[in-house]
Amino acid sequence: MNFVKKHGVLERNSVLLLIGIIIVILIGGIVEIIPLFRKETVIEPVDGMRPYTPLELTGYNIYIREGCYNCHSQQIRALRDEVVRYGHYSLAAESMYDHPFQWGSKRTGPDLARVGGKYSDEWHKGHMINPRDLVPESIMPTYSFLMNNEIDAHNMYRHLKALRVVGVPYSDETVEWAGKDALVQATGEPRVDTTGLLERYEKK
Ligand code: HEC
Repeated sequence: MNFVKKHGVLERNSVLLLIGIIIVILIGGIVEIIPLFRKETVIEPVDGMRPYTPLELTGYNIYIREGCYNCHSQQIRALRDEVVRYGHYSLAAESMYDHPFQWGSKRTGPDLARVGGKYSDEWHKGHMINPRDLVPESIMPTYSFLMNNEIDAHNMYRHLKALRVVGVPYSDETVEWAGKDALVQATGEPRVDTTGLLERYEKK
């Protein structure tokens, strides 16, 4: 009875009631929102996820530089038509090493999250040089100039270092070997020794 009486005071004073409501909402907000700041609570781990190799990271950086995200998304939604067209819907863990993530918000072209392995390397090369050669009705711009641009392997370790600051688990060794690992991956297995690269980065 005593408690009900005390609550009556709150109910008869609108300012007190307002303060009470704010305190309760704040507590609720903290309980619901704070855990989301920790990656472990929102991302279900997925087997086989590893950070990008330096060469993959270079491609990722070109993707951002050229603004491919203006026309392409990398997030397959959990809707039937998307899954039928693009494959299994995207999981949060799949972009956990992307800083910034490349989910995109516009699809002038198709989603690219699972385009890897869909075509041959030759197809992609031809398509980047002139999309119309492979898809006659394509409106994608040509990126043939990329054929003449060189990548700066000596500076690659800086990208790894920067990503390490935001939590991507690159070891000292991977940072130190970044430039070499990129060259090894770019030149291909038959000609060079890839054991170091494969030790540092699991095969996808
Ligand atoms: C102006 C919009 C636009 C931009 C910018 C753009 N694309 Fe595209 N892209 C398209 C369109 C439209 C298609 C579908 C037609 C085709 O295959 O060419 C496409 C198709 C593709 C495909 C084939 C996808 C599939 O499943 O068949 C790939 C791969 C691709 N783009 C990569 C890129 C990359 C990499 C960049 C940045 C260097 C880029 N695109 C920039 C519009 C764009």
